[in-house]
Amino acid sequence: VASELILTVTANLALDITYEVGRLVPGATHRVRRVHQRAGGKGVNVARVLRALGAAPVLAGLAGGSTGAAIRADLALAGLVDALTPIAGESRRTVTVVSDVDGEATMCTEPGPLVSATEWADFVASYTELVGAASVVVLSGSLPPGVPETGYRELIDIARRRGVRSLLDASGPALTSALAAGPDIVKPNAAELRAATGIDDELVAAQELRRSGVGAVVASLGPDGLLAITEEGCWRARPPKPLAGNPTGAGDACVAMLAIGAANGASWPNTLVKAVAVSAAAVVCPVAGEIDPGSYQHLLAEVVLEELDAAHPHR
Ligand SMILES: Nc1ncnc2c1ncn2[C@@H]1O[C@H](COP(=O)(O)OP(=O)(O)OP(=O)(O)O)[C@@H](O)[C@H]1O
Ligand SMILES: [Mg+2]
Repeated sequence: VASELILTVTANLALDITYEVGRLVPGATHRVRRVHQRAGGKGVNVARVLRALGAAPVLAGLAGGSTGAAIRADLALAGLVDALTPIAGESRRTVTVVSDVDGEATMCTEPGPLVSATEWADFVASYTELVGAASVVVLSGSLPPGVPETGYRELIDIARRRGVRSLLDASGPALTSALAAGPDIVKPNAAELRAATGIDDELVAAQELRRSGVGAVVASLGPDGLLAITEEGCWRARPPKPLAGNPTGAGDACVAMLAIGAANGASWPNTLVKAVAVSAAAVVCPVAGEIDPGSYQHLLAEVVLEELDAAHPHR
């Protein structure tokens, strides 16, 4: 458990709305049986898991309009401390329609509000102040329209200058353009790793990504667990078996544990085992951002850790 402050950045916060219907039929009118609504975005999931693990996250990001107000209200309800920068645009919503008959989920996500150059500058100023008090900063998810593609590079540079470690979980240009700033940890999933490097072999790809100036690459490979290429060594950590459930948000739970490890200066083997256990404990929970504490404790003893020979990791 980290007593130190962990700053989570969610540039593109959302209000996640879930509609439960009997069966989703395109073209038909549906009577919604239940509506759920909560603050979302990857950094919010990370912060929820951090809080569940006893850490002290502070949320930074951009939010506006009545949807932004609803996001803030829900964060407060969850006991999360927000330091969001207000913007003129309306924060985005995501709508997930769940068919009760088969549990199938259909999702529509809005792109997010257009952020002006002044608003981004306001956010960067607020972030610069917040980062000074943090031991680790977590940068998660997409950047909203209007924010420069190099947004994460700027934020990582600011953290580095203040001696604050950075952990990046992004995809596409937001990820690749941030590598030059040398984030301390990046956590791509298998698809993000492949897209960033153009290499199919996960180990070769992770090593290549690390050579681009990253401190440690922790690749998450779904039910196959984690592959970590670090300055201390290379490891694979796997769950004892694939678990059934909702894997959305498992990567965010993993990121939360990596952040705690970085904040506490824990060893990589220790952190990786805990990260695999906590992400599996997220899979068994139906809602992203939640973990099952019992499963976490139980899984800790069952994670399989293997050290790879750094020079010949294939052997
Ligand atoms: N079916 C599963 N059973 C057990 N553990 C799993 C399963 N799926 C994922 N995990 C754990 O969760 C971690 C993260 O999963 P994944 O690689 O799918 O992340 P992701 O795609 O970034 O997820 P998201 O972005 O939705 O949070 C994996 O490294 C693994 O440890
Ligand atoms: Mg992910």
